Amino acid sequence: MEESKIRELIAKALEMRNFSYTPYSHFNVGAAILAKNGKIYTGCNIENASFTPTNCAERTAFFKAVSEGVKEFEAIAIVGGPDGATELDYCAPCGVCRQVMSEFCKDDFLIITAKSENEYRTETLVENLPYRFGPKDLLG
Ligand code: THU
Repeated sequence: MEESKIRELIAKALEMRNFSYTPYSHFNVGAAILAKNGKIYTGCNIENASFTPTNCAERTAFFKAVSEGVKEFEAIAIVGGPDGATELDYCAPCGVCRQVMSEFCKDDFLIITAKSENEYRTETLVENLPYRFGPKDLLG
């Protein structure tokens, strides 16, 4: 993937952290997914007083896309860190979000985790989650 596209995704993910609803963890995560149709879908984490309904940034972005009929994806950028952090560390997608990626994405789906637009790591979904359980296990 072109570096300029990676930077664009990271920039959008960084922007999304401003919308995180995190009164409990104060840990703000933003995500931006590039769909195969070229559109970008973004998300932030949304917490809940009852804790379990909390939705991660990655799933917010996936569900926005899928709810609009988009189910083919190329890459996701993820950024996260505490409120007011001046520098971010890498934020890995949680297991639940990896499983959601597994539902809709191919082995070569690119996961970009970033500290900034210039400092990022990439790996494919199959590198991140080998031996994954997915639709093929049920549907063949
Ligand atoms: N969180 C995400 O949004 N994505 C991740 O991949 C890791 C965790 C959120 C969930 C919760 O709102 C906060 O970060 C602390 O776990």
